[in-house]
Amino acid sequence: MGRKVLLFLIVGVLGARYLYIPLPANTEQPWVIMCVETHLKIMSNLMLFAELLGISHYMTSTNFAASFLDTPPTSDENVSVVEATFHNIPVRVYVPKQKTNTLRRGIFYIHGGGYCLGSAGFYNFDHLSRRTAHRLDAVVISTNYRLAPKYHFPAQFEDVYNSLRWFLSEAVLQEYGVDPTRIGVCGDSSGGNSATAVVQQLQHDQDVKVKVKVQALIYPALQTVDFDLPSYRENAHSPILNRWLTLRFMSEYFTTDRSLEKAMTTNQHIPEHAAHLLQFANWSSLLPERFQKGHVYKKPTFGSSTLAKKYPGFLDVRAAPLLADDTQLRGLPQTYVLTCQHDVLRDDGVMYVTRLRNVGVPVTHDHIEDGFHGLISTGLKVGARMENQYINWLSENL
Ligand SMILES: *[C@@H]1O[C@H](CO)[C@@H](O)[C@H](O)[C@H]1NC(C)=O
Ligand SMILES: *[C@@H]1O[C@H](CO)[C@@H](O)[C@H](O)[C@H]1NC(C)=O
Repeated sequence: MGRKVLLFLIVGVLGARYLYIPLPANTEQPWVIMCVETHLKIMSNLMLFAELLGISHYMTSTNFAASFLDTPPTSDENVSVVEATFHNIPVRVYVPKQKTNTLRRGIFYIHGGGYCLGSAGFYNFDHLSRRTAHRLDAVVISTNYRLAPKYHFPAQFEDVYNSLRWFLSEAVLQEYGVDPTRIGVCGDSSGGNSATAVVQQLQHDQDVKVKVKVQALIYPALQTVDFDLPSYRENAHSPILNRWLTLRFMSEYFTTDRSLEKAMTTNQHIPEHAAHLLQFANWSSLLPERFQKGHVYKKPTFGSSTLAKKYPGFLDVRAAPLLADDTQLRGLPQTYVLTCQHDVLRDDGVMYVTRLRNVGVPVTHDHIEDGFHGLISTGLKVGARMENQYINWLSENL
C-alpha cells in the first residue's frame, strides 16, 4: 500500500511538472499549446541530461531532433522550389509557376532558431516562403547560414550578409526576374535580428547599388544589454521560448563558454565602459506606458570587463542592432514589426518601433495580443493570423 502511494505521488509530481502549464486566459487552442510545450519540455530535459553525461552539446542534439521537421525542396502546383548556393551559402529559391511579363517582387528571408537551430527547409519556414511567393507573386530567397555551437558570431551575420549581397547583384536579380526597386528583407526571431543588422549594414556599403524597399521583422531579437525588460519578467516561463532558453541561445551566439550565460542570467554581463549603450535599450524611456505597467526600471548591474574583452561580439551592433545610434537609423527603409504579448522578445521589437519612429522612419507595428513566440505558419490558428498580417502588409507596401 505504502509503495503504491509513493509511486502515485512521484508520477503525480512528475506529471504536474510536465503538464501544468499556466496559460493566459485569452489563449486560443490552449490544449494544443500545452501539448507542444510538454513535448518541448521533455525533449529539452532529455537533451540537458545527455549534455550532463557528456554525450552531446545541448544545441547539437536539439538541432538533430529538430531536423526531423525539415522538408525536401519539392515544387507544388503553384511554386517551383529549387536549391542554390549564393556565395557558397545554401539557399532555397521559391519562384511562382504562373507566367509573367513583368519583373517580380523579391523577398530575402532569414529563418529563426536562436542562431543554433533550424534551416530554410524547416516545415514552417518552407510553408511561409511558399505562401509568400504564391500570394505576392514574388521570388523568395530563403537563406541558410552556419549555426552555433560549431560557429559563433560573426559567422551567422556574415553568411546572411554575403548571401544577401549575392542576391542584390544585377546579374542575379536579372536571372530570377526580380525588380530591383521592389525588394524586401524579412526574418523571424534570430532571423529578424540578422535582417535588422544586414539592412543597417547595407546603408554604408558602397558596393551595393540596389536599395532595399522594405524590411519586415517578425518577433525579432534586437538587443543584448538588458535581460530584465518587462517582457522578460512577465514571460520568464512562457511556453515555446522561456527566459532560460533565450539566454542560452543568446550566449551560444557568441561563445560556448557558459560564464557569459551565467552573467546574462543575473543581468551583470555589461561592463561599465559600455554604459553609453544602455540609453538605446532603455525601456523606461522607449516603451509605451501600456507595456511598462506595474514595472519599475532597474539599470543593469555592471559586471567585470573580462567577458566583453573575450567576446566583444555581444556589444557589436551587428549582433544587437537596437544599439545603433540615431544617425544609423535615419534613412532606413519602411519597416514592419510584428510582436507577441506573451514573448520575452516583445519589448525588443516595441523599442525598435519607438526608435525608428523617433527618427522619422515609417513603421507599421502589429501586436498580437494572444501571441506566443515562434508560432508563425506552424499550423496553429494564431500562427496563421500572424502569417496573414505579415503577407498582407508586404502585399500593400512592397
Ligand atoms: C495553389 O493556388 C490555389 C489558388 O490560390 C490554391 O487554392 C491552392 O491551394 C494552391 N496549392 C497549394 C499546394 O498551395
Ligand atoms: C533610462 O531612462 C530613464 C527615464 O528617461 C532615466 O531616468 C534613466 O537614467 C535612464 N537610464 C539609463 C541607464 O540610461
